[in-house]
Amino acid sequence: MTRRQSNPFRPGFNQAPVVFAGRVEVLDGAVEALEVAAYDARTPRPLILVGPRGVGKTVTLGEIATLAAEELSWPSVHVEAKAGGFLAELSLRLQKARQLLAGTVVAERPLGRTRVSGGKVEAKALGVGGAIEFQVDAADRAADLDVATALRQVMQVAAERGAGLLLTLDELQNASPDELNTLGALLQESVPLDWPLVVAVAALPSLRSNRGPRRLPTYLERAEWHELEALPAKDARQALVEPARQAGRPMTPEAADALLGIAGGYPYAIQVVGHFAWRASHDSAEITLVHAHAARPRIEADLEQLFTSRWEDASGREREYLRAAASAAQKHARPPTGGEVAAELGTTAKSVSYLRDRLLKKGTIYHDGAGRLHFITPGMGLWIGDLEH
Ligand SMILES: Nc1ncnc2c1ncn2[C@@H]1O[C@H](COP(=O)(O)OP(=O)(O)O)[C@@H](O)[C@H]1O
Ligand SMILES: [Mg+2]
Repeated sequence: MTRRQSNPFRPGFNQAPVVFAGRVEVLDGAVEALEVAAYDARTPRPLILVGPRGVGKTVTLGEIATLAAEELSWPSVHVEAKAGGFLAELSLRLQKARQLLAGTVVAERPLGRTRVSGGKVEAKALGVGGAIEFQVDAADRAADLDVATALRQVMQVAAERGAGLLLTLDELQNASPDELNTLGALLQESVPLDWPLVVAVAALPSLRSNRGPRRLPTYLERAEWHELEALPAKDARQALVEPARQAGRPMTPEAADALLGIAGGYPYAIQVVGHFAWRASHDSAEITLVHAHAARPRIEADLEQLFTSRWEDASGREREYLRAAASAAQKHARPPTGGEVAAELGTTAKSVSYLRDRLLKKGTIYHDGAGRLHFITPGMGLWIGDLEH
């Protein structure tokens, strides 16, 4: 019997995968921005990654942070926007980054491999993870600098040390219009100063589509936008097959085909199918079709939880709208327009637009540039179609 090895799959959100597959275009864009900032002394346009939940926005930000650390020895500051505000937290983390760059917070490892993330400095020394906690003492909290000052100060120190800073902002669709405008104005003003600063943002598509007549700050409008979608077949296969191979329990091509048939290219689902197939194969030297089949019920139960939580979050009328959207999608064999969903409900688009808007706001659906409505969680439409009414 084979020794039980630890599971190389990472189902869940914000979990860096063992093998990060694809997204070459985004990473190339990030490398270019980092190089422009570091060597050409110009502040590049920000990168914005938008896409549904579970598509890999957060872990891609993490990859960009790793690139910044490995290629340039730059630290990064990561902050997640929350409905209750995030600028105060951003300010605090910028101050921590300044201390780190100035050497007043001593990292266990050379600066080259460190990353400021949350209250921690993670030492990214060639995969040897060590982390030291920041001492957030009373004096720090009392400092309470506004974010503009905090940014200016950290950039000054960075420039003096010949370093720079990567700023990663996650879940930016949660930011209030006021905070977004403050941040947009601040970053816009910094462009002519040619700071060695790269900004990478991640958000649900609603960052752009839910704003009604309000416009995004120009700084964000002019960003380099990347729409993250399901991984193409080749990358999806790599994300599934490689972790198992590297962990010493390879997957047969038939098993991979069956599992990819369930997951499609949806990165969250790829980790889920890999995770349960791994668990179903503990007494085997490889993962076979038998294990893939055995894992199926647990995979489906896991993916259903995502749909269920969205569904339970919807009111009775909103559920009717979602049902109509699912059946319109099936009828037209593509994501429907608002008008097509309304037709399914036997009414006008205008009379149900309030339902559409509420679901957009909740992040259950989004509309693309062509005005088509998509479920944010891939597969949810089919799942709704199968529900007992
Ligand atoms: N390029 C990728 N290769 C392999 N796994 C990935 C990739 N992108 C995302 N994942 C996995 O998908 C899941 C969701 O990623 P996450 O970044 O939390 O998504 P999002 O921020 O878009 O909601 C995680 O388990 C992560 O490990
Ligand atoms: Mg995320």
